[in-house]
Amino acid sequence: MRKQIAAANWKMNGTWSQAHTLLQDILNEKITMGGDRLTLFAVPFPYLTAIHTLLKNHPGYAVAAQNCHHERSGAFTGEVSAAMLQSLDVRYCLIGHSERREFAGETNQRLAQKIDLCLEQGITPVFCCGEPLPVREAHQQNVHVAQQLHESLFHLSGTAIQGIVIAYEPIWAIGTGKTASAAQAQEMHAHIRNTLELKYGPQVAGTLPILYGGSVKAANAKELFSQTDVDGGLVGGASLVAQEFCAIMKSLK
Ligand code: PGA
Repeated sequence: MRKQIAAANWKMNGTWSQAHTLLQDILNEKITMGGDRLTLFAVPFPYLTAIHTLLKNHPGYAVAAQNCHHERSGAFTGEVSAAMLQSLDVRYCLIGHSERREFAGETNQRLAQKIDLCLEQGITPVFCCGEPLPVREAHQQNVHVAQQLHESLFHLSGTAIQGIVIAYEPIWAIGTGKTASAAQAQEMHAHIRNTLELKYGPQVAGTLPILYGGSVKAANAKELFSQTDVDGGLVGGASLVAQEFCAIMKSLK
C-alpha cells in the first residue's frame, strides 16, 4: 500500500507552551503509526528541534519544516536552508504552500529549486499544489495543477520523484470551512496520478502519496481518505485541536 499520511500544518500559531501541550495531548492518545502510516507535524522553525526530540520514541511520527530557502546558503537574513534542516535531522519539508505562493511570491520555478535542494539533502518535500477559486469556476483546475506539476517537479528523474509527497489543496477550501467534496477531491487526485503516469509510468505514479488539504476535519476525514487516490490529508485549523487531529489520524486507510 502507498504511505498514508496525516500531516498537521500548524502555520504561525501557538506559543511554545501551547505547542508543547498540543503535542503531548496528541501523543497521550497513543495512536499507532508506523508501517504504511505516518503522522507529520509541520511546525514553526523555532520548535523543530524540541518537537523532533519529543517524537523520538514514536515510530511513524515525524517533524516537518514549513518551508526552506531556494538557495544553498549565503546572505539571506531570516531564511533557513535545506542543509540546516538536514543537520537537525528534519526529514520532511512543506514546499509551495499556497500561503507562501501568495505572501512570499513563490513561483513554480522557484519551487523547483527548493525541491532539488530538499532531495539533495535527503529531505522529503511535501509539494503543495492547487487552484484558486476563479480557476475552478472557469473549469481550468486540471490545466492549472498539471502546470504546477510540470514546472516544479517534472524535471526530476523517475527515481528522484519517488522521494516526493504531493498535497492537493484547492485554495478556495483552505481555512474557509468549505471542503472539496470527496468526489471533487478524488477527481483531482486521479488527474494528478494520471499526469504522473503519463510522464513516469504506472509504477512510479502508483507509489506517490497524494494528500488532500483544505478544511479537513474530524467530521469529513474518513470520507475524504476513503477515496481511492486520496492518501491522507494536510490539515491546518483542525490540527490545532488535539481531539480533532487525533480523529483525523484515526481516519487514515
Ligand atoms: P485548513 O488548512 O485545514 O485550515 O484549511 C490547510 C492548509 O493550509 O494546509
